[in-house]
Amino acid sequence: KCLFLAKNYLCSHRSPFRCHLQLQRNFRVAVIGASGGIGQPLSLLMMKDHRIKDLRLHDVQGVKGVAADLSHVSAPASVRGMQGPEEIEKAVECCDVVVITAGLARKPGMTREQLFEVNGNIVMATVTAIAKKSPGAMVVIVTNPVNAIVPMAAEVLKQHKVYDPKRLFGVTTLDCVRAERFIGDYLKISPTKVKIPVIGGHAGTTILPIMSQCQPPLNASQECIESMIKRIQNGGEEIIKAKEGKGSATLSMAFAAHRFVDVLLKGLKGEKTPLECAYVESNVTEACFFATPLSFNKNGIAKNHGLPCLDKSEKEALKSAVKQLQQSIELGINHVKCKK
Ligand code: LMR
Repeated sequence: KCLFLAKNYLCSHRSPFRCHLQLQRNFRVAVIGASGGIGQPLSLLMMKDHRIKDLRLHDVQGVKGVAADLSHVSAPASVRGMQGPEEIEKAVECCDVVVITAGLARKPGMTREQLFEVNGNIVMATVTAIAKKSPGAMVVIVTNPVNAIVPMAAEVLKQHKVYDPKRLFGVTTLDCVRAERFIGDYLKISPTKVKIPVIGGHAGTTILPIMSQCQPPLNASQECIESMIKRIQNGGEEIIKAKEGKGSATLSMAFAAHRFVDVLLKGLKGEKTPLECAYVESNVTEACFFATPLSFNKNGIAKNHGLPCLDKSEKEALKSAVKQLQQSIELGINHVKCKK
């Protein structure tokens, strides 16, 4: 009984020791950019997750209202809104998972890379706060351009001597979600029955859906496969066009980010996790950040499952994706070095 009580005390929100222990089963999660188009639905999904007991929402404006709104939901998590640069450290302090969605969205005709100047600085401030106040947290980056921002975040964490490559992730789950959906529609089966690795990065032709490994197998013409690949690679543009200049994917991105956090939390709880792709530090190709299927445990990445088998055209596509990724990675790393 004493042991049980001690364990509960150490796991309670009041304990100063809690974030150094692996005992807890209830998680503290922060959503940064919580009053934005992705942040709001993502926060709602987090609220519904009974493993999360402490949900912190942060944004530069409007977040108190979002937190008040969510605090009327009959779910067990406590929810608090924190606003502005002065509250970012409080928002991320001692978190298990911090999801960064803050930043500008693309307008029609823009590339994700064109968001780097603005979004890079926003993410840099958040990651600095994480380095100071929550160095053990899983850092989940949704903000675009993921291909450059994740290497930039790694550099910031390195400067603070708290970088752990097993705990830093760029979310590419939306590419997997899209692939499952489009293939499911084509095969006339539920997308939940489709398994396909989508590797590389999260922009245009760096997104590599490995159709040759699709389960169930995709018996379609080469032309049809190519057009499906293009649709997955240009999924972001498809939404921007449909929204007629009023933003990019928000609901599907929130769905995807929540799916990724779900797998991370399973790993943190010591449960067996399904494979999920994410953009992480990698030695699988010559690009030092690359998305491949991963499994998870309490330390973050349990295993990088590496490259799936590739056919001839996928090998070609990989070569060009790696070159593009190397440029984005350099952009991210240099941004931090120039600020030194
Ligand atoms: C997406 O893939 O929909 C997101 O990365 C948003 C965007 O800018 O396309």
